[in-house]
Amino acid sequence: MDTSRTSLKKLLQGLGYRFGKTPDKVDLDLARVLDRERFEKFVQCLRGAQHGTTPVGSIYECFESAEEANLFASRQADLTLETYLAIDGRIAPDLKPGMRVVDLGCWTGGLVAWLAACHTDCSVVGVDRVAKAVEFARAGRPPANTSFAVWDYAATPAPPVAPFDLLVSCFGIDFAGTARERDPRTPLIFALDGRGLRESPGYRFRRDEAAPYFVGWRRAATAGAVLWAVLRIPSFEKCLAVVDAAQAAGWSFEPVEPATLAVAEESFPILRFRAEAASAPIDPDLVLSWWVGAAGMAGLHSPMHGDTGLLAFRSLGDKRVQHESERVGADGMRVRKEVGIAGPLGYMLMRSSHGDTVLVLMPRFSADLLRAAQEWPEGVGLAEGTR
Ligand SMILES: C[S@@+](CC[C@H](N)C(=O)[O-])C[C@H]1O[C@@H](n2cnc3c(N)ncnc32)[C@H](O)[C@@H]1O
Repeated sequence: MDTSRTSLKKLLQGLGYRFGKTPDKVDLDLARVLDRERFEKFVQCLRGAQHGTTPVGSIYECFESAEEANLFASRQADLTLETYLAIDGRIAPDLKPGMRVVDLGCWTGGLVAWLAACHTDCSVVGVDRVAKAVEFARAGRPPANTSFAVWDYAATPAPPVAPFDLLVSCFGIDFAGTARERDPRTPLIFALDGRGLRESPGYRFRRDEAAPYFVGWRRAATAGAVLWAVLRIPSFEKCLAVVDAAQAAGWSFEPVEPATLAVAEESFPILRFRAEAASAPIDPDLVLSWWVGAAGMAGLHSPMHGDTGLLAFRSLGDKRVQHESERVGADGMRVRKEVGIAGPLGYMLMRSSHGDTVLVLMPRFSADLLRAAQEWPEGVGLAEGTR
């Protein structure tokens, strides 16, 4: 039996997390727990965040107790459990007695309490900009080697706490919602035309969005400190933007053994950085090969999505383009299709202005190659201009 998993689950349940519930079930429970007025406000904030009209943080302000806050967090209880276990496993080799550890975006202190209980010879601090969450964390009777502080690390210049030797963040960046990304007015277009990725507005948007977080985190780090971050970055393009933002802030990306956390249908990379002087931008191929390792390779003849498709496409060597076309979907997303041959293989590459990639490889003389040049194929993810 996995005793760590069982103990951590118990700790989280003690803080109000409920396992085995779908987000809809959680919302029904919230409707029972919050009075009508507060539930309506919560729904408004949730919808606003999903549509990109309200910051995600507005949801966090809706709760009056740790139980309410963590009932909401139970929408992703399994993800929380797996993330905390993965982070604990990653940081263990770096930890030495007396070290100061911080959880950036600690919410109601579940990870802080867990790390403090597992590493009694370290002090563990939780920081969050939501004052109520910090208050709930303090009220939850955490172990003696813990403390908490309110800090908006993307905005307040000086951290209200002494620097740390080891920093962790589980989803501590509230990236703009998918709705905002998909809004044609948002300048999120990734280069489709052979310009460098770093020139595209989509890349710059993500990099500039991530930059203040890494600047703030760097201010809270001792020289040489290690940062482990689990982030919601679903494509290589976004990963490079985040890594570049971190490097510019004085975090050097350490492409150690690639790691991904896969829960339900989603997967999340776990990135490691070291606090150093700001350095020159990293070679994108280094990040790409790390990313592909993290995401895992798909089968050669089935559609390869995202980073995997991009890497496989690059590795095709000399390519001869036979057909190119572009489509604009109802939501304004542009999708560019290229059909060509490379050595013994035929290929079809589709890239969207939202940064998605799909590559289909096929035998060079396959009738599919001709068909792919004439039609927009169904069922490979981007054909209808939707994700
Ligand atoms: C998605 S929740 C994740 C909570 C927790 N780390 C976990 O994995 O369960 C994001 C957390 O980061 C915090 N956060 C986001 N932006 C922040 C900022 N600029 N400064 C401090 N905390 C922030 C939020 O308040 C929230 O508690």
